Amino acid sequence: MRAYYRERAPVYDRVYAYPERQDDLRWLEAAIPAALADRAVLEIAAGTGYWTQCISLRATSICATDTALEALRQVPARPLACPVETRVADAYGLNDVGGGFSGAFARLWFSHIPIARRADWFRALHACLAPGASVVIVDNSAAQCRRLPIARTDQAGNTYQLRETDAGKEYEVLKNFPVASELEAVVRQAARPGSSRFVELEHYWFFYYALGG
Ligand SMILES: C[S@@+](CC[C@H](N)C(=O)[O-])C[C@H]1O[C@@H](n2cnc3c(N)ncnc32)[C@H](O)[C@@H]1O
Repeated sequence: MRAYYRERAPVYDRVYAYPERQDDLRWLEAAIPAALADRAVLEIAAGTGYWTQCISLRATSICATDTALEALRQVPARPLACPVETRVADAYGLNDVGGGFSGAFARLWFSHIPIARRADWFRALHACLAPGASVVIVDNSAAQCRRLPIARTDQAGNTYQLRETDAGKEYEVLKNFPVASELEAVVRQAARPGSSRFVELEHYWFFYYALGG
């Protein structure tokens, strides 16, 4: 998956032009910065920084992380409204990004986590956050499979798509489509009771919770 996204970094932003997604994107462009207003945000798998730019309108600072330097290099070229640091960091190894963030954001990342690794990933994310931090996770709904059908399901229930780059190289990419109850269950211990909110759009879902403590 990392190789696939590295290869796609120069043309990644084409996904933001898909006509059928425009209404949902406008909704997210309002909801995401609002949920992270006045927060020092740790962004996971930031890619080329489309959402870094949006969040910067309301956040106090952002640490935008990704494994693909090719993608992160595009972030500083965007008009950023708050201080933004970019860091090459593996979402499964967040030890070096520091702690005490009051917000966290991950878009189109959760769907790539194998089901068996979800709980560990949330534990590692929460270790970087301050008590009461706002967490926003956004990902594709199953409507995305109209463009990229599921090619295979493994024994653990993870689903996979075949993706072809402009150069004609094919990658098999793990891509899961969780329902609200799966997300709520995995953060139940850590979230402040009653704080979680799941919104299902046509092309994306939006999940918010506040960390307890
Ligand atoms: C679908 S893109 C999402 C980019 C951006 N968040 C967005 O919504 O447009 C997935 C991103 O995950 C990054 N990625 C893949 N494996 C990763 C890992 N282990 N740790 C951090 N980022 C990773 C890729 O480089 C890519 O930028």
